[in-house]
Amino acid sequence: MNILLELLMTLFKVFSALFWASVHFFIPPPQKSVKGEIILITGGGSGIGRLLAQRLAKLGATIVIWDINKEGNEETARLITENGGKAHAYICDISNNSEISVCSETVKREVGCVSMLINNAGIVSGKKFIDTTEKDIVKTFEVNTFAHVWAAKAFLPDMIKNQHGHIVNIVSSAGYIGVNGLSDYCASKFASVGLTECLDLELHFAGHDYINTTLVCPYYIDTGMFAGCQTRFPWLLPILDSDYAADRIMLAILTNQKQLCIPRIIYFLVMLKTIVPASASPYVHRFMGGDKLMANFVGRQGNKKTN
Ligand SMILES: NC(=O)c1ccc[n+]([C@@H]2O[C@H](COP(=O)([O-])OP(=O)(O)OC[C@H]3O[C@@H](n4cnc5c(N)ncnc54)[C@H](O)[C@@H]3O)[C@@H](O)[C@H]2O)c1
Ligand SMILES: *[C@@H]1O[C@H](CO)[C@@H](O)[C@H](O)[C@H]1NC(C)=O
Ligand SMILES: *[C@@H]1O[C@H](CO)[C@@H](O)[C@H](O)[C@H]1NC(C)=O
Repeated sequence: MNILLELLMTLFKVFSALFWASVHFFIPPPQKSVKGEIILITGGGSGIGRLLAQRLAKLGATIVIWDINKEGNEETARLITENGGKAHAYICDISNNSEISVCSETVKREVGCVSMLINNAGIVSGKKFIDTTEKDIVKTFEVNTFAHVWAAKAFLPDMIKNQHGHIVNIVSSAGYIGVNGLSDYCASKFASVGLTECLDLELHFAGHDYINTTLVCPYYIDTGMFAGCQTRFPWLLPILDSDYAADRIMLAILTNQKQLCIPRIIYFLVMLKTIVPASASPYVHRFMGGDKLMANFVGRQGNKKTN
């Protein structure tokens, strides 16, 4: 009898979540304040990281950015302070676990307790599996996956102590759907999707609901990271404008949304992937332009300037 009650309670939770999700589709939920929070953003010296840093600083948060790009880092800090915001830029190579330890101690000493961590820095080799080197693959995992682990380990204890925190992992739709020519990248992003899901469950079951996680899975964004890539049906799967992407990510963060896929059709494609027989999957990929997505990839190599 007890199990029946439990089942009913679970169904109730599922339907109320569906109900609220539909309500929030039309009326956005209230946004939290980040005033006075210390927010650390990795890869804040360019692209999405910089755009999030500027937006969060405008809302009164103190921004800490970690990047290996000295000029980009300083430029982000300058853009923020010129507008009256607070920013601290540190050169930190997050592919190195020891450097993450050293940098996180420095931040705790010089700035304070980080209450929101945005794991954003990411790299892509853009090479076919057969051409990827050990160095490419290891580096990709160090930046796109392991750094998420070490940074979370560095700042989670303080979040638990203060009963207040938020971990945002900027992953990719390539963390749900494999893409032709992106084996190292997809593997690292799939790993981070799993990591974020598990971390969220662990925090919940340990009673740490005051710490939220947000998993962000965008399609291509026009930051330059994937310069040269083409999408077959731009009206269906557009290459996202970086300001639009940053605005959507901001909304997800400020409403404690657990997961964000942009554009929305990604949710549908993920579902399609699980119901279309795997043997037919290459045909769907080809139709959607997935065979040629990476064909003209240039990336940051061909475009040294930072966005
Ligand atoms: N651009 C896209 O199409 C796209 C799509 C989906 C997901 N994403 C993800 O969004 C995130 C941000 O991407 P972006 O387009 O803004 O990229 P970007 O190249 O503009 O910015 C990435 C930043 O990370 C920094 N970085 C790289 N390696 C580092 C290291 N070892 N230590 C510290 N910093 C390092 C770079 O210097 C750069 O400033 C990435 O994780 C990326 O995988 C991007
Ligand atoms: C990693 O960082 C540590 C501490 O800053 C440094 O001593 C070490 O040389 C770095 N390792 C690599 C491979 O760069
Ligand atoms: C995390 O989410 C819960 C539930 O929405 C909320 O009560 C709590 O204040 C949030 N914590 C932070 C730091 O936003």
